[in-house]
This record gives sequence, C-alpha cells and structure tokens, in this order.
Amino acid sequence: MISPTTIDQVFETARVEEVIGDFVNLKKAGSNFKGLSPFSDERSPSFMVSPVKQIWKDFSSGKGGNVVAFLMEHEHFTYPEAIKYLAKKYNIEVEETVQSDAQKEKANERESLYLVSEFANKYFQNILHKTDQGKSIGLSYFKERGFTEETIKKFDLGYALNEWQAFTDEALKKGYNIDFLSKTGLTIVKEQKRFDRFKGRVMFPIKSMSGRVLGFGGRILITDKKAAKYVNSPESDIYHKSKVLYGIYNAKQSIAKEDNCYLVEGYTDVIQFHQTGIKNVVSSSGTALTSEQIRLINRLTKNITVLFDGDAAGMRASLRGIDLILEQGMNVKVCTFPEGEDPDSFAKQNTLEELSLYLDENARDFIQFKASVLSEDSKNDPIKKAETIRDIVNSISKIPDRIKTEIYIQECARIMDISEEVLFTTLAQINKKESQEDNKQFKKNQKVFEVIKHQQPVKKIDVQYVLERKIIEVLLLYGNKVEDFEDLVLKENDVGELVLEPVIQQAKVFEKIFLDLQDDEMEFTNEKFKTLYYTLIDTLNQNSDFELKNFVNSVNQNMANEITNILMEDERYALDNWERMNIFPKGKNQTVAQLVSETILSLRCFLIDQKVKEFQQETMQSKNESNRNILEEVKDYSSLKMLLSRKLSRVL
Ligand code: CTP
Ligand code: MN
Repeated sequence: MISPTTIDQVFETARVEEVIGDFVNLKKAGSNFKGLSPFSDERSPSFMVSPVKQIWKDFSSGKGGNVVAFLMEHEHFTYPEAIKYLAKKYNIEVEETVQSDAQKEKANERESLYLVSEFANKYFQNILHKTDQGKSIGLSYFKERGFTEETIKKFDLGYALNEWQAFTDEALKKGYNIDFLSKTGLTIVKEQKRFDRFKGRVMFPIKSMSGRVLGFGGRILITDKKAAKYVNSPESDIYHKSKVLYGIYNAKQSIAKEDNCYLVEGYTDVIQFHQTGIKNVVSSSGTALTSEQIRLINRLTKNITVLFDGDAAGMRASLRGIDLILEQGMNVKVCTFPEGEDPDSFAKQNTLEELSLYLDENARDFIQFKASVLSEDSKNDPIKKAETIRDIVNSISKIPDRIKTEIYIQECARIMDISEEVLFTTLAQINKKESQEDNKQFKKNQKVFEVIKHQQPVKKIDVQYVLERKIIEVLLLYGNKVEDFEDLVLKENDVGELVLEPVIQQAKVFEKIFLDLQDDEMEFTNEKFKTLYYTLIDTLNQNSDFELKNFVNSVNQNMANEITNILMEDERYALDNWERMNIFPKGKNQTVAQLVSETILSLRCFLIDQKVKEFQQETMQSKNESNRNILEEVKDYSSLKMLLSRKLSRVL
C-alpha cells in the first residue's frame, strides 16, 4: 500500500495538463487546452483539459476526471499504478506501508502481469550484460549489428539463456506466480513441464506509450529454416498486438515535435534510426497496420511517412493498408529504399545528414506514388488499367477533405494519362455506392427509432435535475466566496403598509445556499447530487481554505467523475466555438451573487409549482372536509410564489 503522505504529495505536485500532454497533443484554447480524444476516432477536437480546475473531460466518450482518472482510463492503470507513475514522473519518493500476504494476493491480476513482465525485462538485460553467455552471444550479436552500448541500454535490449527453463526457475525463485508467467507467455506450461518461450534469443521489450513493458519480441541468432526468426509474446490482458506500436515510448516526444512519424516494419529499423539520430519512428512489427495503431500516432501528429523495404512485392501488398491512414484524415507520404536495403541497413550505412536528405528527397505523396507505381504495372494491359483506376480512386475517396480530393484527381489524371472526367465519374460511382449503403443503414436505424418514438414520448427537460446540478456547480466554483446578497424583506412603511424592501447582506455563498435551502426544507431528489451536496457543505464548513483541486482529489472516483461532468458542461460552449459566433451561455455576465440567487429562487419556484399541482390533484380526488384546508394552503403557496417571482425578476 502506498502511504497517504505520498498520495497527497503526488496530488499536490502533478499537473493534469503536463501529464496528459505526454499522451495527447494539446493546444491552448482560452484558459483550457484542447486536443483530439484519445478514446475515440475523431477529426475535430472534443477533448478538454482545464489547468485551473485540474480536470479533463472527453466529450466524445463522456469520460472525465482528475489526473489519476486519466491514467486509469488511458493506460489502464490501477489506482496504485497511476500514483506510482506520477510519483516517478515528478521524482517523488514512494513510501509504502507494509503489505500483508492477503493484500498481496488481492493485488489485481493485471498489475501482476505488469510486474512479471518488468521482472523479465530486468532479468534479460542482466543476462545480456552480466553473464558470459549473454556477453559472448547476445551482446556480441547486437554489436555486430552496429548497436552501441547506449542504444542497447536505451531500448532495454536483453538476452534469454539458451536453456530450457533458466528464466522460469529464476522467476519462481523470486516468488513470481507460475500463473502469471504462463499468462504473459514468458513460460510455456505443458502438463508438468515448463519451458522458457524465448530460450536462446535476443530480446526486444515492447512498451506502452507510458513506458510499461507489455510483451517481448525475441530474435533467433542462428539461421534455422525451421525456427521462426522472431517469436513474440502472445496476446494477454496487458498485451494487445493490434493496439501497440514498437518504439512509441521512445518516439512520442519527437513525433509531436517534428510533427511527423516514420513508420517502419521491424524492431531493428526503429533502433537503427534512433541511433542514427532520427527518433520519430515506430514499427507495426511486421503486421498490417490497424486503425487503433494509427490512432496512437494521430494523437501526436497528422503526418505519417511510411518507409518500405526495397522489395517490390512487399511494398505492393502494403499499399492497400494505407487507406486506413487516409480515413483518419492524416497526410500520408511513402518512401522506398534501394533494392535490397531496408531502413535498418540504409541507416546503418549513412550519416544523419545523408539519411535525412534521402528521406526528404524520396518521400512522396502516397496517392501520387500509388498512381505511378500501379499505372507502371498496368501500362500495357487495359483490363488491369481499369482495375488500377478503381483502386486509386478508392483511396482518394477515403480522404475526408473535399479540396484535397479534387487536387488528387487532377494529379492522378496527369500521372496515369487519362481524363479527369473518367476519374471524377469513378469517384462519383464509389461515393454513390457508399452513400447507398449508408442510406440503407440509416433507414434501418430510422425504423428502430420510430418504434421507440411510439413507445416513449420525448422526455421533458428535468428542471429539478438541472437546478440541483447548478447548485452543486455554484458550490464547487464559488462556495467559499463572500458576496453581497440582496434580499427583499417585508417591511412596514411610513403609512403603515407592508412593502418589500431590498436589504443587502454579506455571506459566504455556501452559507447562503445552505440556509436558504434549509428554510424551504428542500431535499435533493438526485441521490448523487445529494451526497455531493452534503459532502461539499461539510468540507466548506470545515476548511476556510477550500480548494477545488484538493476537493476533487479527496473524494472517490465516482464522485470525482460526477464533479467533472458538472464542471466541464460549461466548457462545451468553448468547444463549439459559440463564443466566436457571439452566442454566450446564459449568465455569463452575471455576478456570483446574482447567479446564486437566481438558482435558488428558480428552484424554490419550481418546488412550489409542484406543491400546488399536488394539492390540486388531491382536491380533485377527495371530497371530504379537508378540502378547505388544502385550498388554504394552495393560497399560501401561491402568494409565496408571487413573492418569489418578484424577487426573481429583480435578480434577472
Ligand atoms: N516479425 C515477426 N515474426 C517473424 C518475422 C518478422 O514478428 N517471424 C516482425 C518483427 O517485428 C520484425 C518485423 O516483423 O521486426 C519485420 O520483419 P523482418 O524485416 O524480417 O525483420 P527485421 O526487423 O528486419 O529483422 P532483422 O533485421 O533482424 O532480420
Ligand atoms: Mn531487417
């Protein structure tokens, strides 16, 4: 268990915008930051971070919370993992309270998988650097490939002894559970026997965006036709092949800074590029790129350059996969290497200047590239040519931007030596087919919608919900502020009539709210708001130095999430650019006192209306004597309502 002092210190120090900034490309937007949602595919930013409130909100997925909630959502950390991550980032020493065996056992399974992977990572490195076999076989292999000591350390490269269960034995001896060794695939369990999966291989740890070890790739050292060159960790609770990119941890900052990402095929390509001095490079590890992997890059930059080995067949096969990148609205370039070379070998033979120059001169726009390669292929074959046109126009149709589409059509017409009309017609056909499919889908959806509509009449806005929520918001933002509140009180004037007179009273916002609501014996109807309300009043009452940030961090995740929802609702306006259109959310120029009074009065009016309605119902149903009493009450309430309405109109 992490000590409460450490947790406090972490919350004091961590800045939500800095932490999220490591994962999402954030741009300043007024007093907030905004960026592309890391939780969904999107092209216009709906992800907001508030440095003032120290919270974030993702409007596309509805997620939100404080800095820890982000790490839990995004990195799938547990609470302690998130705290430890932050402690590491901010150089805070983690103080642990001693764990009992029972607690250890409870520690969640994912954490165990991470731990065992981290252990293996350290172990393989240790073998590489500290044992005779490691040095003579593993290290000398890496040196032969031209990797420096510094590079080997930077990528945590390692070596697994060429023995059946050396690693497994060591892990078990250190107290790691065979279950987790098996689940991460580090150990293969067959009945009573156990084998090290990576026996005799050099090791490449695969890391998450935040640097946690998720799995491994292990390369064989001998040339054996029967054995696979690379063995990789199997899918597990922490390792999902389709969602990781090799090298992303080491590359993320450079990708954002250079505003471009090089995509290569292999582990060694990434490493060799780094060593040469180009750091914005990741690898899809030899498999077809997935949209999840593209999204990882899309958060950091809009520009991607795919680097192909100098082998023609492989490149042609990969061209199709690139449409996925276009679909996410990214700009794609491609660059090929001379026959027989791959990015690794090319980088190894060249200096940084030469490599950079080569990339600059040879990177070509993807669509143009595809058009020229394919039209060369089908030059003398009319049937193939027709196919090629379709293929290329299909790629063009994936581009969301209309202007770009047109430019590409013109370019391709020139490259392939056919008329623009043919291409435009083909594009129209493809689009029509797609929209017909969309339409079918739409009609289907509409049907479902109609059925629902008949069953459930449109829900009216829940006024009470909105007002209760508003009260919580006011408490969160201004609870501790001292304000001048104007109240109307009944007074006798000179001639003995009763009149309403304004009186100014100073009070703290939370006191005013609490007392007013108490006067009305008003209770929150929404359970979440009710809990929040009392927690807030209590905290405000006890701490004269109430701070929103500390409060958010002191409550449980559920409540913190609710708070975020309430607070970030406002920020939505900024996102929609309403301000630019001069539409201000109501109340923008109100003083805090006006806002408080308006909210409370609106709620009171609403409650009175409800009461009156209730009474009316009762009167209609009952025919007994109590009618008279009820009517009296209705009259009382009605005059109170009139009084409140007058106050309200004064505030507005
Ligand atoms: N790969 C794999 N399993 C294989 C072969 C390849 O997982 N049996 C993946 C690895 O991630 C590898 C990438 O595909 O890095 C590219 O394959 P390849 O070009 O064959 O490997 P290189 O990285 O070039 O390896 P090396 O230079 O060491 O031969
Ligand atoms: Mn290679």
